[in-house]
Amino acid sequence: MDGNGRWASARGLPRGAGHRAGVKTIQRVAEAAPALGIGTLTLYAFSSDNWRRPAEEVGGLMRLLRAYLRGETDRLARSGTRLTVIGRRDRLPPGIPEAIERAEAATASGDRLHLRIAVDYSSRDAILAAAARLGPEGLSREGLSEALGADGDVDLLIRTGGEKRLSDFLLWEAAYAELHFTDRMWPDFGATDLAAAVADFTARDRRFGGLNPPAVPQAA
Ligand code: FPP
Repeated sequence: MDGNGRWASARGLPRGAGHRAGVKTIQRVAEAAPALGIGTLTLYAFSSDNWRRPAEEVGGLMRLLRAYLRGETDRLARSGTRLTVIGRRDRLPPGIPEAIERAEAATASGDRLHLRIAVDYSSRDAILAAAARLGPEGLSREGLSEALGADGDVDLLIRTGGEKRLSDFLLWEAAYAELHFTDRMWPDFGATDLAAAVADFTARDRRFGGLNPPAVPQAA
């Protein structure tokens, strides 16, 4: 969800105003996703490296997260959206881990969209922790995916704000993801942009290392 800060600065506003506008984009995008065939949508809200930002900005982001969890859970549940949060919880401010658990429990039966929010998230750390839990004997591709709570592979990875990096996001899960980069700042991103990204994805020739059509017919 890149570009909140620049969106705000361009308007002479503090960075926090960009993050607040970014929350509205979350609502728009989550509403538009199911009709575009998206079953799982993972949003990168706060990376483990974002702790390096000024305390004021970090505090503002945590307040937004708390307000989102408190204010949106009912609406998410009513709209059939299951909310889960990935990332570390032990460094979050008091009250937030409990708010996450409440939101996850209240939306657990949602089957229209699985909305995942990555908070204090580092894909490298998540892979290391999952591998350590499994131990050398338990390691397998499927086992690691499951231990990561991967909910399947990432098909399409969208980065807004003109940056062209993965920034430690879903590195294992995105092994064969199609990448879509857009200059649109996250607060300006909307249903039309999401539809354009999906159309771009649909037009891609996904070969997963093979040939298309396969040189050797595949058994049914
Ligand atoms: C990246 O843009 C955005 C973030 C680090 C924060 C994203 C968070 C939200 C949209 C709100 C909080 C989340 C929830 C779920 C309520 P940037 O600030 O790095 O922008 P810049 O590249 O223009 O500086």
